[in-house]
Amino acid sequence: MENNTDHILINAIKKKPIKRTPIWIMRQAGRYLPEYKETKNEAGGFIKLIRNPELACEVTLQPLRRFDLDAAIMFSDILIVSDLLRMELKFVENRGPVFDYPLSTQKDLDRIGTPDDVDKLEYVFETIKLIKSKLDNKVPLIGFIGSPWTVATYLIEGDSSKKFNKVLKILKDDEPFIERLLEQITTISIDYLQKQVSSGVDITMIFDTWGSLLNGQEYEKFSLKYIKKIKKSLDLNNIPLIYYSRGLGNKLEYLDGLDADVLGVDSSLDLKIIKEKFGTKFSIQGNLDVDILKKDEKIIIEEVEKVLSSFGHGSGHIFNLGTGITPDIKPEKVKLLVNILRDISPKYHIE
Ligand code: CP3
Repeated sequence: MENNTDHILINAIKKKPIKRTPIWIMRQAGRYLPEYKETKNEAGGFIKLIRNPELACEVTLQPLRRFDLDAAIMFSDILIVSDLLRMELKFVENRGPVFDYPLSTQKDLDRIGTPDDVDKLEYVFETIKLIKSKLDNKVPLIGFIGSPWTVATYLIEGDSSKKFNKVLKILKDDEPFIERLLEQITTISIDYLQKQVSSGVDITMIFDTWGSLLNGQEYEKFSLKYIKKIKKSLDLNNIPLIYYSRGLGNKLEYLDGLDADVLGVDSSLDLKIIKEKFGTKFSIQGNLDVDILKKDEKIIIEEVEKVLSSFGHGSGHIFNLGTGITPDIKPEKVKLLVNILRDISPKYHIE
């Protein structure tokens, strides 16, 4: 069915021998690219851009025209799934996602009732099909969801204040509400990711950005448990799954039971330590600090070398940043990074 078996990124995930280390960049379509800002304006804003398959496809392809990247990631957002709960996602420039009526009690969930059918997100599936037709199988396409916990933090906080006071208080006071909400998001996320797969994505990814808010046992109970449930319920038919989280330093032991192909980590972790801990259980994605891209070429070369040598020799590493690229990075620096990696990574793959 798929003829993507020869993509270098898929081969890295499968730990098959490759000649260099593949790279893609979280948020590779985004505000650091002037052409993205132009297309966003043309669409009438971020949410309208996501809901417009032609233009969402266009911004997905923009970074691939500029740089030799090894994957495309569909242009969307993890919070789009809120559409199925009839929660209106707004996006305020320089403030981020906002929900005017955040959730805080069982009554709010009663009011929502049964979620809408996943077909409501047809614009996403349309976007995937368009991107696939334009990519011509040159690089694989990544589809994604947010973890139920990470999505829930936004639905409860109502904005991206990053303080999380409200969600952490509710977690203490009303566990049944949190669990019901997480179950709800889990159910719709399974349908949503499954439909991304049947629409053509080649790789799936779960962003569990705020899993690290939770201490170890809570992390298992409120985040990993639902991710495992999603994984079990999906029919992926050999399509790989990337799990990404931040600040996993003291939580690695909880990942033993996670059935994912790739572990994506931020810059606070040493790839060597993950490799030592898990052996070949996971391939690893990451983890250059995005701020390094503000430095000059010499420093970038040194830091890329550090990431590569931390992983060490052989297949199983996908190069990426530790977090999404920020609007203050110059596109030329991304070009430089991709070129540096092409120059220096082959020596880590010679048999
Ligand atoms: O990586 C890509 O290029 C694909 C698209 C993508 C976006 N968001 C587009 C986006 C993906 C995979 C995401 C994931 C996402 N969204 C996460 C998890 C990953 C992470 O960054 O930790 C989270 C937590 C969100 C929610 C979200 N979306 C926030 C908090 C914000 C505001 C902060 C910010 O970075 O601007 C967004 C906005 C957002 N999502 C933008 C883009 C391109 C910027 C929109 C704009 O102003 O044009």
